[in-house]
Amino acid sequence: MSRRVYIETVGCQMNVLDSELLAARLEEAGCRMVPSRSDADTILFNTCSVRQHAEDKIYSALGRLKHLKDQRPGTIIGVLGCMAQRASRDILRRAPHVDLVVGPGRLGQLDELIARIEEGEGPLVEISGQRRGNKQAEVARSFAQFDGPRKTELRPGAHQAHVRIMFGCDQFCTYCIVPSVRGPEQSRPVEAVVDEVRRLADQGCQEVTLLGQAVNRYADRSEGEARDLADLLRRLDVIDGLHRIRFVTNHPRYMTDRLIAAVAELPRVCPYFHVPAQHGAEAVLRRMNRGYTVEEYRRLVERIRAAVPQGDGPLGAAITSDFIVGFCGETEEDFQRTVDLVRWARFKNSYIFKYSPRVGTKAAERFADDVPEAEKRRRNNELLDVQNQVSLEDNRRLVGCRLEVLVEGPSKAARKLDTRTQGGGEEGGADSSGPPDARGQLVGRTAGDRIVVFPGPTSLTGRIIPVKIEKADACTLFGGVEEGGSSREGLQENPDDNSRI
Ligand code: 5AD
Ligand code: SF4
Repeated sequence: MSRRVYIETVGCQMNVLDSELLAARLEEAGCRMVPSRSDADTILFNTCSVRQHAEDKIYSALGRLKHLKDQRPGTIIGVLGCMAQRASRDILRRAPHVDLVVGPGRLGQLDELIARIEEGEGPLVEISGQRRGNKQAEVARSFAQFDGPRKTELRPGAHQAHVRIMFGCDQFCTYCIVPSVRGPEQSRPVEAVVDEVRRLADQGCQEVTLLGQAVNRYADRSEGEARDLADLLRRLDVIDGLHRIRFVTNHPRYMTDRLIAAVAELPRVCPYFHVPAQHGAEAVLRRMNRGYTVEEYRRLVERIRAAVPQGDGPLGAAITSDFIVGFCGETEEDFQRTVDLVRWARFKNSYIFKYSPRVGTKAAERFADDVPEAEKRRRNNELLDVQNQVSLEDNRRLVGCRLEVLVEGPSKAARKLDTRTQGGGEEGGADSSGPPDARGQLVGRTAGDRIVVFPGPTSLTGRIIPVKIEKADACTLFGGVEEGGSSREGLQENPDDNSRI
């Protein structure tokens, strides 16, 4: 098989990871990844179903490919991921030129399926079993685990990687389609995760983000007593060459003191907690089936702040949240309780979403989607303004602090400038070991996941360095590299030497 494959990915980090793993597997089968649709003879969409908007965008992209398929019938068009699992029939009805529909639990078969289409079969639909009305163990089997070898060059950044530790979700929050499309909760064995992270660290990866839909429910029961996320973190914290460990997304109900203590104690685990509250009103949380009260959530924030004082400068642990506005039956009064929670909790940032009813969820079946779109938009904007105010005030407290930053590479602005002035080098860089590029702005992240932009040579990419913060807005810190500084996380003199200092 020697196809030229373009994968377009939307949605969460889990999808980004699936696309990376697919690319690695297809390359192994003889395919070549290409950077745009026009270079490709195989166009794959790795899709998201969490909100309607994400699905609508895929339908319009598929519509635009009809013409291309008429002109070049040899082109293979595939829809992969959550939307494929949820809406396979609709996809083939609305876009009959699609050759391949593959759910998240069947991605391991993609190379075989493409080979069968090359031989003239199709369209092929490969999805997992429905959760409703079927035995849990059978359904779990039909959502096959999908992991495999990692290739540095297929990742967005060589020094950071996502690592799946769990599949699926058993929480059934009433608004959420994820449990139906990603199947039952399944944890990977500790040893498999440790091996994968060790290999990533050997390839030069500095930071791993462990992924799971309710990641703090991780439990490896493959050998005797169950091992939880705190146990796994302890194993990962001693891997040579690895400097930072994060994990997302946490469910507030399962945030144990044991896990919080592990974060406080383990030096490489970042003081960063993505623990979505979703709402600030009791009645709405109940309708969402979240399994905690607002009071319990507030206590959780206090427990984290008390146990994990370390973080970016004086701010302590970074806590971030997701919120849904305009959920079924949400009154203005309910909404104001969410505003109160955002003001009180001082989240580092919040991801805010307008409720989007999903066919197949309890909320879509039982409750009316009764908040008008314009009102959802207003509440979304109001909450965003409040969060931005909090983020700005907190970020300003960091001005004057020295923070350790993992350098990701040229900033967006610098990359743009680079493509416009390609070939034109600047004289007199601050660094003698790399190409002189004193003008270049770099971007990196603090342990609390704050974005920092500062001038420096691209040779700093992949290193953890101290940066003095000089300016702040709500989303970004701006600073400068301090001469001769050393770092708690290990400033490496030689980028090939990954040992911790
Ligand atoms: N509508 C809007 N937002 C949703 N989310 C999940 N389902 C929906 C939905 N139906 C949000 C939640 C979740 C994030 C990934 O997406 O806030 O945490
Ligand atoms: Fe969806 Fe709730 Fe599971 Fe998160 S925990 S994926 S919001 S069902």
